[in-house]
Amino acid sequence: MTQPALSPRFSNAFAEAVYVGLSKRPQKELPSMYLYDEVGSALFEVITALPEYGVTRAEERVLKAHAADIVAAMPGDIQVAELGSGSGRKTRLILEALCKKQPTAYHPIEISRTALQLCRRELSDIERVSIVGHERDYLAGLSEVSAKRKDGERLLVLFLGSTIGNFARLAATKFLRSIRGMLQPGDALLLGTDLIKPLPVLVAAYDDPIGVTAAFNLNMLARINRELSGDFPLDAFEHVARFNPDARSIEMHLRAKRALSVRVRGADLHVEFREGETIWTESSHKYAADEVAPIAADAGFECTHQWRDEQWQFAESLLVAK
Ligand code: AVJ
Repeated sequence: MTQPALSPRFSNAFAEAVYVGLSKRPQKELPSMYLYDEVGSALFEVITALPEYGVTRAEERVLKAHAADIVAAMPGDIQVAELGSGSGRKTRLILEALCKKQPTAYHPIEISRTALQLCRRELSDIERVSIVGHERDYLAGLSEVSAKRKDGERLLVLFLGSTIGNFARLAATKFLRSIRGMLQPGDALLLGTDLIKPLPVLVAAYDDPIGVTAAFNLNMLARINRELSGDFPLDAFEHVARFNPDARSIEMHLRAKRALSVRVRGADLHVEFREGETIWTESSHKYAADEVAPIAADAGFECTHQWRDEQWQFAESLLVAK
């Protein structure tokens, strides 16, 4: 897929996104994908170990308990593709179950080369697995994997961790529809979704008491300072996590504690903040367990199975392309 043309005014996509996002009104925003540079990805790994953030452990429990069932629900000659590669711990559970039955090709799709290398290092010891990394965006990578498989091979696509939650509901359906467009009938998508739970539990998961999530969020501004010669005073901003009941999402923001003005030389930007004004940096949409099947149906999939973690309320759904 070709990247959209950069206006000559900007040196790279990050610079343009910062310019566009911080020029928006009334709500300034920065796209959540830019939270995950090297520092941000390392901080996110720490988040997954926090007692307040139950998402990752819940999914690991589900996959540990049901990897064999998941694999049994997908008979035939299977290749695995994964959107985003993560730490590999959850993927291992699926690949080990599958490799017991057949030698398996695994295609992690990921725009970060470092993440691809880490994932290869993490998973290459699995017997009978062959790893083929794709340094592409999700849809471009998936269309490549899908086009290259042989007749009779089915694809199992992993989209784990509730990453789908970063999309607003309508955009999530559209994204699932685009994935469906890359697949053949009988291919499947294994989709992890974090479920709606009591408000205090939800908020604490995104506002932990030792401040790891705050650091993860503030790193966005630190990254702008590092990469785009910005002069954000980090101590003038604070991390905010709040539930948006209309969207049913947790929103992360960075709030200016006082009025200030900021320059970002590398994005050709001068921007003013009022006291209390926020930059919206990420949304994590939460689902009801029975919401997944109709959304999937709308996107051309049948939800044939759903496995849930009761302790934290997380769902892993197997969506088969119709
Ligand atoms: C990686 C997008 C699934 O939304 O729960 C965790 C990111 N942000 N804590 C999520 C995140 C703050 C996470 N996802």
